[in-house]
Amino acid sequence: MVNIDSEEIKKDFPIFESRKDGQRLVYLDSAATSQKPRAVINAISDYYSNYNANIHRGVYQIAERATEAYENSKKEMAKFLGAESYEELVYVRNTTEAINLVALSWGEKNISEGDHILISEMEHHSNLVPWILLAKRKKAVLDYIKVGEDYRLDQESLENGLEKNPKLVAITHASNVLGTINDVKSITKKAHDKGAVVLVDGAQSAPHMPVNLSDIGCDFYALSGHKMLGPTGIGALYGKREILEAMPPVIGGGDMIETVEFYSCTWNRIPWKFEAGTSNIEGGIGMTPAIQYLQKLGMENIFKHEVELTKYALDALAEIKNVETYGPDMKKNDHGGVISFSVNGVHPHDIASIFDNYNVAIRAGHHCAMPLVTQILRQSAVARMSFYIYNNKDDIDKAVEAINEVKRIFKK
Ligand SMILES: Cc1ncc(COP(=O)(O)O)c(C=O)c1O
Repeated sequence: MVNIDSEEIKKDFPIFESRKDGQRLVYLDSAATSQKPRAVINAISDYYSNYNANIHRGVYQIAERATEAYENSKKEMAKFLGAESYEELVYVRNTTEAINLVALSWGEKNISEGDHILISEMEHHSNLVPWILLAKRKKAVLDYIKVGEDYRLDQESLENGLEKNPKLVAITHASNVLGTINDVKSITKKAHDKGAVVLVDGAQSAPHMPVNLSDIGCDFYALSGHKMLGPTGIGALYGKREILEAMPPVIGGGDMIETVEFYSCTWNRIPWKFEAGTSNIEGGIGMTPAIQYLQKLGMENIFKHEVELTKYALDALAEIKNVETYGPDMKKNDHGGVISFSVNGVHPHDIASIFDNYNVAIRAGHHCAMPLVTQILRQSAVARMSFYIYNNKDDIDKAVEAINEVKRIFKK
């Protein structure tokens, strides 16, 4: 086990050199997007400075170099996720696009009137709205696994949902609001026993914990590069080879074809069948140093570090009157580095503004999980801190100082 030394890590991230009114940046919003290490920024700059060219086309040296760098990053990602082959990874813009690709391609082909789709009450809009749209188009039925009082998935509700023989189970690996980590391996096994296809939303798991797709066994897995030290505008959809091969393309154009005649065409092999047009080349290239940075630290160590910070923060918040937190207890090792909270009677946007006076960045709102926040937590909005490799206990102490200032200003 390597200890995560956040002070050393911060030195690799240029943004932490900045000061606001003399105060260092305490960044507690990595669930929204992570900061970028110098290695990622340099890789992008190196591409544009030294071998900028379009990929998959040119035979000249810099075009070949760019193609190799872009495709190599998929190979790195396949190893990182325990996928069998890099050909099972489609590069897209983000998790949202990955899930929409499944809905528009696999969903259009395989979901019919009266079919059931099972998701949970803790989904981010990106694993919810595509299924609402698909269910409406197909007259399919959307069922929900309930969130229990302990902020975990209600097991009885999961079993009930599976009894309806859903065609698809789409579930988040880790909640961006509650911090809950779902046992997606066991859910996948149960869903497969019922003949369902399983999609896992990995936006909050790939950056923060070991993920082995061969072990989980899911059919699809979606992630965003920008939440795992990589650039914005690059994400990945993993799909099992035979499923991706059977799926029709959704976007047509250059690069995704094999042959084109005036009235017909045939498709390229996977994954390029789904990557029409010029790709986000800098994004792909930037993913290699991002993944290497995470691998060097070790995903087990990263997870352990975040759990330790979460425990420390929850203990500190429990001592403060009128502060409520929303998420599972820390007893089962299924609570990652996300804490949603409120200070009774204070709007979360006011909390976030006061935090900003301390140069502490947190998020306030419904966190793109409106049904969860408004109907299950019964709040119009909540404040959220989320942790990553560059955070430490000093950052949490600073957040606690800011909460005490909120309480002083609002007399709570
Ligand atoms: C659990 C979860 N799923 C999906 C997404 C969507 O990610 P993106 O906006 O990068 O598509 C997020 C973003 O916060 C998320 O937390």
